[in-house]
Amino acid sequence: MNQNSMVKISGLNQFYSGSHTLWDLDLDVPRGARMCLMGRNGMGKTTLLKCLMGLIPATSGEIIYDGTRELRGVSADRRAGLGIGYVPQGREIFSQLTVDENLRVGLEARSLSNAKRRELTAYIHSLFPVLKQMGGRRGGDLSGGQQQQLAIGRALTLEPKLLILDEPCEGIQPNIVHDIGDLILKLNKELGLTVLLVEQKLPFARRVASDFVILDKGRAVAKGAIGELTDDLVRKHLTV
Ligand SMILES: Nc1ncnc2c1ncn2[C@@H]1O[C@H](COP(=O)(O)OP(=O)(O)O)[C@@H](O)[C@H]1O
Ligand SMILES: [Mg+2]
Repeated sequence: MNQNSMVKISGLNQFYSGSHTLWDLDLDVPRGARMCLMGRNGMGKTTLLKCLMGLIPATSGEIIYDGTRELRGVSADRRAGLGIGYVPQGREIFSQLTVDENLRVGLEARSLSNAKRRELTAYIHSLFPVLKQMGGRRGGDLSGGQQQQLAIGRALTLEPKLLILDEPCEGIQPNIVHDIGDLILKLNKELGLTVLLVEQKLPFARRVASDFVILDKGRAVAKGAIGELTDDLVRKHLTV
């Protein structure tokens, strides 16, 4: 077993009814990596993340987490409890609940002392001061970028070892895109958090990621250090 992997996926296949969507996928996310999953729309990026989170079943293959644990057959809640934080595409915060309540949902899923809960809340507020300022506002009243920050803040209530972000910059203002890039770099550097993100914007991927993998029609067709993402690969698999 490779102890240097935070997640190691081997031979993963997935079907939506009759439609074969992921094909014999292998993916190794080393501990401490910032791995960017790339590919055009409909290539299977979100499907792969959902299989990893246990939100949809894989048909075959193996997902080894944190060196030893086989995740297939483990519920999504349990995977979260093992330290996998997930920020879904489209964010999916609770729009009727306040910002504070959204964070509390994450915190109360864990059995923490009040002191620990306060400490974590203060940490999340220090990363996202806007969430403190807007604590009483309904999630649905925030801007897209603020909702994204809330969704990331909520994922951090788990104190994850692995943070998964599905298109965190989709539909948000450029200044917040930049802040989210900074945040990913900071969490990775300061906490050693391993990050797996889907991102289609090349400048963001090049700035934030350490490694990349490209999906094309459900197959991993190229991977490497982010510096090896050539214009040729971009032309072939990423531009429309
Ligand atoms: N719930 C679903 N049922 C059936 N087909 C789906 C479902 N979700 C996604 N698909 C299909 O699976 C393929 C991969 O989708 P997805 O993983 O969302 O791609 P990406 O995230 O790369 O844009 C697409 O062809 C999409 O239409
Ligand atoms: Mg997607």
